[in-house]
Amino acid sequence: MKNNIVWHKAAISKKDRERLNGHKSCVLWFTGLSGSGKSTLANEVDRQLYARRIKSYVLDGDNIRHGLNKGLGFSKQDRIENIRRIGEVAKLFVDSGQIVLTAFISPFREDRDQARKLFSDDEFIEVHLDCPLNICEQRDPKGLYSKARSGEIKQFTGIDSPYEVPLNPQLTIKTSEQSIEKAAEQVISYLEQNSYF
Ligand code: ADX
Repeated sequence: MKNNIVWHKAAISKKDRERLNGHKSCVLWFTGLSGSGKSTLANEVDRQLYARRIKSYVLDGDNIRHGLNKGLGFSKQDRIENIRRIGEVAKLFVDSGQIVLTAFISPFREDRDQARKLFSDDEFIEVHLDCPLNICEQRDPKGLYSKARSGEIKQFTGIDSPYEVPLNPQLTIKTSEQSIEKAAEQVISYLEQNSYF
């Protein structure tokens, strides 16, 4: 497969783009159960970054599964492929000088670690949305937990498919204990304190 394909070095580097944008690029990798608030928080952080004129973009699990990852299901193999592709897409966004926010359950530690390997240490920020299953289930914003409980949906994360808690995330956010605005401020402060902008 690799034969006859030669990497073409870009004329403009990531560093050039970061200089133009006036901030560093990185991936904020949100991980957590369905209903833990990944998409809501990613969008709120995106809104706050936009207000500061920072170039950012959200890659959202449900949305990406309508397009790029249409056809992938929720078997272990399909989830691995889902996350592998998102890692690669996130890498392109980081290379383009932006802050990319990914909102995928990404339940398997090994897949998140594989994604991390695509980046330098300070480029990959793992954000664990730590929200108890019973609260996610009460929220049930899409009615999927009740379908999973009744057996209508199989291999649902937290019910009959595992979620592996991150061991060393850069940030842990308890979405059941604070408002979404406060949670977003926690993410923004992390970026500020670590000189991303
Ligand atoms: S991941 O496990 O591969 O990272 P991803 O974040 O892309 O999952 O998609 C999760 C979303 O798909 C959930 O928020 C939910 O809306 C929907 N979904 C449908 N079936 C399942 C399932 N079996 N397990 C988890 N989420 C599911």
